[in-house]
Amino acid sequence: MTQPFKRTTVTTALPYANGPVHIGHLAGVYVPADIYVRYLRLKKQDVLFIGGSDEHGVPITLKAKKEGVSPQDIVDRYHNIIKQSFEEFGITFDIYSRTTSSTHRRIASDFFKKLYDKGEFIEKTSEQYYDETAKQFLADRYIMGTCPHCKNDKAYGDQCESCGTSLNATDLIEPYSVISGSKPVMKETKHWYLPLDRYEPFLKQWILEEHKEWKPNVYGQCKSWIDMGLQPRAVSRDLDWGIPVPVDGAEGKVLYVWFDAPIGYISNTAELLPDSWETWWKDPETRLVHFIGKDNIVFHCIVFPTMLKAEGSFILPDNVPANEFLNLEGDKISTSRNWAVWLHEYLQDFPNQQDVLRYVLTANAPETKDNDFTWKDFQARNNNELVAVFGNFINRAMVLTHKYFEGKVPERSAWTEYDLATLEEFVSVKKDVEALLDIFKFRDAQKEAMNLARIGNKYLADTEPWKLAKTDMPRVATILNLSLQIAANLAIAFEPFLPFTSEKLRRMLQMSSCEWNLLGSVDLLATGNHLRKPELLFEKIDDAVMEQQVQKLLNTKAQNASAEQKSAPAKENIDFDSFAKMDIRVGRILEAERVPKTSKLMQLKVDTGIDQRTVISGIAEQYKPEDIIGKQVCILVNLEPRKLKGIESQGMILMSEDSAGKLSFVQPAVDTENGSCVR
Ligand code: MF3
Ligand code: ZN
Repeated sequence: MTQPFKRTTVTTALPYANGPVHIGHLAGVYVPADIYVRYLRLKKQDVLFIGGSDEHGVPITLKAKKEGVSPQDIVDRYHNIIKQSFEEFGITFDIYSRTTSSTHRRIASDFFKKLYDKGEFIEKTSEQYYDETAKQFLADRYIMGTCPHCKNDKAYGDQCESCGTSLNATDLIEPYSVISGSKPVMKETKHWYLPLDRYEPFLKQWILEEHKEWKPNVYGQCKSWIDMGLQPRAVSRDLDWGIPVPVDGAEGKVLYVWFDAPIGYISNTAELLPDSWETWWKDPETRLVHFIGKDNIVFHCIVFPTMLKAEGSFILPDNVPANEFLNLEGDKISTSRNWAVWLHEYLQDFPNQQDVLRYVLTANAPETKDNDFTWKDFQARNNNELVAVFGNFINRAMVLTHKYFEGKVPERSAWTEYDLATLEEFVSVKKDVEALLDIFKFRDAQKEAMNLARIGNKYLADTEPWKLAKTDMPRVATILNLSLQIAANLAIAFEPFLPFTSEKLRRMLQMSSCEWNLLGSVDLLATGNHLRKPELLFEKIDDAVMEQQVQKLLNTKAQNASAEQKSAPAKENIDFDSFAKMDIRVGRILEAERVPKTSKLMQLKVDTGIDQRTVISGIAEQYKPEDIIGKQVCILVNLEPRKLKGIESQGMILMSEDSAGKLSFVQPAVDTENGSCVR
């Protein structure tokens, strides 16, 4: 930013309201944005922090379909869960609204209309897949078929999740509709396109020339998109969930979710500030910053700016500090595979420990490359950094002050040379943290802030005030005064990163103000100021607690593995006569005993209504004789008798077997006469 600016509008990607939020969301977008906003607020700058849920689009309709409820039910449920998680983790949005709000519907619709009236769109008719049974066009995710590359028969119209190739719906072999299962046909449909190609010269100049300071991962992605050549992009869809296209003859068409969602930032601002929202979006002295994950870069750096530019009255983003992805224990986080640490579940397992997660996610933030979250690292950072460095320093300073000075900030006398050296080190922390926060290097900034605690710890370890208490109380007073001032500095420096801890610390120290500009001062706490009793800021996490979390993930892995096991392949069709030849009846087990020297076989006596007969059944590994005597079962009575282990088996008991090999009896739903026919 070269021009001076008066205020900052900060936005965070609107998460899809089709599931709760997890650590990946927090690490990539919401914690860094919150750190930044809290920092600006501490500096007394004018800042607005905008969030909300993305409630349109195919991800929502698919989830609704899967659960057999309406899209509105889905977004109502998840909007509230997501909103609550953000509140609980101290993400201080000025507003967290939703794209199904009436304000958004109006503003997004007007935005489209304005571009339409200005002639900014191209109208184009093309052929797209259509489901004749369901009578609707099929979005990519609504079409499945066989991947032409790896032959996975569950590939989607936009991607094969098995081999990772991105696809066009027309690439699929034997495509079928997810809605009706029928084979889709090609049908003509009209849509509106935003001609990105017309804006290529503008984008080249604005990004590639004027924003070389953007993070390399962001700049690089933009450059490669622009270098590949930009194409017109459809901004409408044939779908019955979304904001209707506000044009005559557009029945059944809605705005494409990626057209309406970023306008949500504007609508949510307008909902919060109906009279002054334009200042935050149109005044050239406002700076706009988008926090997003890497999969959103093209939309925020190329598509949305083109929309804003085409509209004509808006400012453009000043920076888009996108992050890469956070993995979990080596695997990509996935909502559908339940491979995630969900924020609401974390708080159940670690109540009041929001800051530990905030700390670890920032320490390990995927700022320049994908990173991995592991419970081992979580534990190590908690125990070795938060407990052993930060918590330990604060606790020692507090306890010693209570021990020697009745909990009052002692009066200091002249600094020694060693004090001055310590002071010099810690005064530079403010400048260093600031410089890093200003360029969105949050992990380094937090590390630098942590240095304050290291400096404090070293100071106490080197000066050993507990040894001087008998001989030199004035010196002890000076040492503890400086230690407490460092503690107060920590409260300010960590307010953006660990807001709950900072608040607790400020309460303990009875600090009246918390301003960024006071950072570096050694007069934050007045002499005689009464401190509260020390409370522990952090607690050690035991191996057993971590093992539980790892076990939880292992269980998820096992569940996924068994879910992926394919059910047995379908058999060939048979005619009715083949079926009718089978004489299946209801019978009752009268006796049961294991067949000696086998593990699987059980010898049963069954009352079939016709007779009492002996049947051998392979169920002995899963059932005990005493548990099955008296049960009604289904039995195929006209199976050719055969000898097993020397015993003649006259028929077969019907069992169902799931993909994991678990057996269960096929039984009439209510007790029935023995001999009843099954057909
Ligand atoms: N819902 C999108 C996602 O989760 C992000 C939308 S960001 C917005 O990837 F700008 F469109 F709002
Ligand atoms: Zn494939």
